[in-house]
Amino acid sequence: MSTPLDVLLGRQSVKFVQAPGPTDAQLDLILQAALRAPDHGGVKPWRFVLVRGADVPALVDVGVRAGIAAGTPLPQPKVDNARKWLSRVPLVIALGCRPDPSGRIPEHESLLAVGAAAMNMLNAAHALGFGAFWSTGIGTYLDGVGEALGFDPLDERFMGYLAIGTPIEPPAPVRRPDWRDHVSEWHAPAPA
Ligand SMILES: Cc1cc2nc3c(=O)[nH]c(=O)nc-3n(C[C@H](O)[C@H](O)[C@H](O)COP(=O)(O)O)c2cc1C
Repeated sequence: MSTPLDVLLGRQSVKFVQAPGPTDAQLDLILQAALRAPDHGGVKPWRFVLVRGADVPALVDVGVRAGIAAGTPLPQPKVDNARKWLSRVPLVIALGCRPDPSGRIPEHESLLAVGAAAMNMLNAAHALGFGAFWSTGIGTYLDGVGEALGFDPLDERFMGYLAIGTPIEPPAPVRRPDWRDHVSEWHAPAPA
């Protein structure tokens, strides 16, 4: 029997997914997991927009239009790849953040709370047997893309997409970094 920790340690991103995506009951669990993310000050900054089925490939058109409007058209090979990718993806969750309007909680803490929610969704999707992938492609940072998806251009920040579905192929095992390369230990200075 796998433990919750086995599930965490077994997660890896899976970009190429197809139908079936999560059922409504499974999506409910994924979104519940999102809202278990820590949230300093109870700002509740999470804003998610669900894009499903036949609407998913149209996300590419949103990015293409924004690129043209910005005078920086997305390169055609990238557009073609994104179309091919998204044509099979059954569910995309667009990630948005509404930072504390009072400014009491620094904006980056709300962005982190949305990042933590995204991570919980990746793990929940994996725990349910789905593949998931976090992307800031398809024109995420172009003006107008977030607004076209329904995020308020004044108060909300669009942060990218999670694509979720059934892996088309089992992912190849990846070699993970050694935590020892990323961790140091601190000791209190000796008393003077
Ligand atoms: C905020 C964020 C944005 C990302 N955007 C992209 C992206 O646009 N394109 C891409 O190939 N990978 C992107 N990645 C990386 C993949 O989601 C994934 O983490 C990476 O392929 C490594 O896989 P792993 O999660 O199994 O380590 C992004 C990751 C994060 C955290």
